[in-house]
Amino acid sequence: MLILGIETSCDETSAALVEDGKTILSSAIATQLDLLKKYGGVVPEVAARRHTELIGYVIKEALDTAGKTLDDVDAVAVTSRQGLIGCLMVGVAAAKTISYARQLPLIGLHHIEGHIFANILSNPDLPVPHICLTVSGGHNMLVQVKKNCKYKVLGSTLDDAAGEAFDKVAKFLGLDFPGGPVIDRLSKQGNRKAFTFPRPMIRSKELDFSFSGLKTSVINMFKEKIAHGEMLPLADIAASFQEAIVDVLVAKTLRAVEEHGSKVVGVTGGVSANSRLREVFAETCKKRGIKVFFPKLSLCTDNAAMIAAAGYARMLLGERSGLRLDVFPNTPLGG
Ligand code: KG4
Ligand code: ZN
Repeated sequence: MLILGIETSCDETSAALVEDGKTILSSAIATQLDLLKKYGGVVPEVAARRHTELIGYVIKEALDTAGKTLDDVDAVAVTSRQGLIGCLMVGVAAAKTISYARQLPLIGLHHIEGHIFANILSNPDLPVPHICLTVSGGHNMLVQVKKNCKYKVLGSTLDDAAGEAFDKVAKFLGLDFPGGPVIDRLSKQGNRKAFTFPRPMIRSKELDFSFSGLKTSVINMFKEKIAHGEMLPLADIAASFQEAIVDVLVAKTLRAVEEHGSKVVGVTGGVSANSRLREVFAETCKKRGIKVFFPKLSLCTDNAAMIAAAGYARMLLGERSGLRLDVFPNTPLGG
């Protein structure tokens, strides 16, 4: 079954063709880096308008790259839940149009479910059930992934998601957007023990996250240094901040694994591209006899291939959305 996936929940306009939920024939992604750099972040209305300009070209690119036409497509899968409402509307309108014009089945998906499937798509040997840490700019969750697209959310962020904290700290330090990859690169030249930043909720029994206090602590320390006319060791600040985030993400995930008797962890979402996060997870899980899986780097950040893969799994369960499909900026995973 050839599925056309469409993803426009935030600032990436993406379309992909995926065969049988496994083989990516094409994945076209148009980023809005010029706008992000201009405004220092995502401006929802501006992002939505850019999606409307690009969506037709991006879908055509996905078809052309795969050497296919709409005649070859069997179904359309689109992100309809969790994201910026105006942005979601563009993708869903495009998906509905194709579905109606071509009489193709349509399925709307939750963005986080897409991220979970980015890992399954990248690692065909990833067992289900497993515990999944989804860690991005807009979300941060611990999820028990069960069979047949069933999920139990074990914890989520109470304020800033980890990626949001990366982006905000980077912006404050005068670094480029998005901040995560920049801090990742800069940290390689820094000393991760130079500063001791707080590890919020690392010992709490809850599986929720909170990164806002950590972000404020880095910003306050930075301001203090400037006020005292001190040299600013940006690489050391970046490395120490990143280490604090990584420590919390790994500790919480392992707590979830222990509590739920799992031996398998999936890490997914934009921040799962982080090199230090991958390193610490790999080392810690190896010591404890836990298997850890990450998506391919190209599938960590938002993409439509993960949506097509999730759509395929749900279609196998007989699910269809129909043309009344609506968009929801905030819906629980599974809802
Ligand atoms: O999954 P994603 O594309 O969008 C959301 O669903 O939010 O994730 C984007 C986030 C941004 O906050 C970005 O800074 C972060 O992922 N990110 C990283 C890295 N690459 C992307 N964070 C840390 N290290 C990276 N290498
Ligand atoms: Zn995402």
